[in-house]
Amino acid sequence: MTDLREAYQVPAGDGPHVRMNMVMSLDGAATVGGRSGGLGDDADVATMQALRANADVVLVGVGTVAVEGYGGMRVSDDDAAWRRSRGLSAQPRIAVLSGGASIAPEHPVFAQAITRPIVLVSSEADPQRVAGLAEVADVIGTADLVDAVQQLAKAVGRRILCEGGPTVFGALIEADLVDELCLTLSPKLIAGSAPRVAHGPNESVRALALADVRRVGDELFLRYIRPAR
Ligand SMILES: NC(=O)c1ccc[n+]([C@@H]2O[C@H](COP(=O)([O-])OP(=O)(O)OC[C@H]3O[C@@H](n4cnc5c(N)ncnc54)[C@H](OP(=O)(O)O)[C@@H]3O)[C@@H](O)[C@H]2O)c1
Repeated sequence: MTDLREAYQVPAGDGPHVRMNMVMSLDGAATVGGRSGGLGDDADVATMQALRANADVVLVGVGTVAVEGYGGMRVSDDDAAWRRSRGLSAQPRIAVLSGGASIAPEHPVFAQAITRPIVLVSSEADPQRVAGLAEVADVIGTADLVDAVQQLAKAVGRRILCEGGPTVFGALIEADLVDELCLTLSPKLIAGSAPRVAHGPNESVRALALADVRRVGDELFLRYIRPAR
């Protein structure tokens, strides 16, 4: 059986590699009942774990942290040993994107963290909020999203796994920062008013190339990469 961790190794390169991992229903819903958890199954969880095993840092928006429960994120002991054998730290760091520093220092993402979290804030964020967050995390002030990704890669490593949410994904598309998309196509129809996996104020068309298709039961795991420039 293929070791998913090997299959999902990050392509070699110099600069930051931003890899998105998202799941959506057949009709394009990014959530069911307000969360993404109801969309994927065990194979999706296994894929997410393999992606985390390959990441220096897991980047996630504050909106997703609020609803998806990121407190205490950690890879398994087996994944930690696999990482160490490849020269990575035992655990990926977690970085919360919160331009307005809107996340509270009391959030479980800090209290339950097993490595010191990072918070990426705008350089214009309220200094008092920033000072509060600096008690529980490494806070990085950023000029914009391009700067945020550059600083994150410099501080932690180039393998950046972004787990959403749709607002962050949309902003990364607009800034042309998406190098790879791992998209799980969940065999469900949802309808309703769930968001798409990416949204934002502007349309930004970015073509990707299909790199891999994996099928597990009725679920498809699609991998797209940025075409060579
Ligand atoms: N289907 C999937 O794969 C998937 C994955 C993840 C999440 N989700 C779902 O998506 C929903 C949450 O997503 P969301 O779109 O509401 O929130 P989100 O994208 O997780 O986070 C949005 C927040 O990120 C910060 N942010 C976004 N763009 C920024 C930028 N360019 N610069 C600085 N900060 C920026 C802002 O924080 P501040 O307010 O602090 O400025 C903003 O409020 C949940 O329902 C979750 O279940 C689905």
